[in-house]
Amino acid sequence: MSNRKEELQNHIKEVEGILAEFLTEQKGVYYERVIDAMRYSFFAGGKRLRPMMMLESYRMFCGKDESIVKPYMAALEMIHTYSLIHDDLPAMDNDDYRRGRLTNHKQYDEATAILAGDGLLNMAFETVSDAMMKSVSAGDCDLLKKQTRAFQVLGHKAGVFGMIGGQVADIEGEKKTGATKEELLFIHENKTAALIQAALTIGAILAGASDEEISKMEKTGYNVGVAFQIQDDILDCIGDESLLGKPVGSDAKNEKTTYVSLEGLEKAQADQKQLSEEAIAMLDEITSEQVFLKEMIKSLVNRDK
Ligand code: IPE
Ligand code: IPE
Ligand code: MG
Ligand code: MG
Ligand code: MG
Repeated sequence: MSNRKEELQNHIKEVEGILAEFLTEQKGVYYERVIDAMRYSFFAGGKRLRPMMMLESYRMFCGKDESIVKPYMAALEMIHTYSLIHDDLPAMDNDDYRRGRLTNHKQYDEATAILAGDGLLNMAFETVSDAMMKSVSAGDCDLLKKQTRAFQVLGHKAGVFGMIGGQVADIEGEKKTGATKEELLFIHENKTAALIQAALTIGAILAGASDEEISKMEKTGYNVGVAFQIQDDILDCIGDESLLGKPVGSDAKNEKTTYVSLEGLEKAQADQKQLSEEAIAMLDEITSEQVFLKEMIKSLVNRDK
């Protein structure tokens, strides 16, 4: 294994350890089934990019107490996982495999999958508000202010002005001929970049970055997120299902406009590389140090899963 791959594996292990502190088993209760379904998708692997980016952003801004960022890392991964469970439902992309396993509605049933997604979304906000209550009890106003701002960003970027808005436009755009680049970029910015922007800005907010730095992280998140979705569209055409852990050809099946269908494979590859390079240049403006976040963004350019 190359050094870079090994380093990434170690970071994934670290994030997995943090996530394991949340969403514990609940046996023998009436809601056992929904908790099992939530855990089934949450602990199915996944690249853990969003919580990892949040942690690395926190570190980049010299955050001093990592216990502060952990609940937000878990919350963001819960929201991301819920978005995947719902994205796979028959009413949306109608896919059977995710993270190398049967999708939630195939393993359980549709009602359970809907409720497991709802459960994860609510648990995300329970998790961060529990952390905020600890600051209230401790009378730590300074920390509470940062946590409240981070909470607001999480709600905004996950909601209709972010991920949900992008998913709506994605579904409405199905089978629509003549979709424009502007429409496609709206979809990519919202369904995917919004949660990546949440990761990068929340890490910065909790670490005490300035408004200017936070806004630079939001711009970086746009580039990283759109580049990430372009590569996702590319892999939906030319990826390997056994590596991806999800089906190839889902977009074509649903007659979606994607970056590849609109611009062709070569331009898609070139644009995603350029967006990633610009993202690294933006981070270079913040720090000249070779922080791991830059390595991560570089490693996403040629990802195969
Ligand atoms: C999949 O996200 C959904 C998109 C926004 C493209 P990831 O590719 O990060 O999925 P996991 O978390 O690794 O399963
Ligand atoms: C999904 O985009 C984005 C969200 C779940 C918010 P896709 O539908 O392209 O994601 P995959 O390819 O199923 O992972
Ligand atoms: Mg989709
Ligand atoms: Mg999908
Ligand atoms: Mg896709």
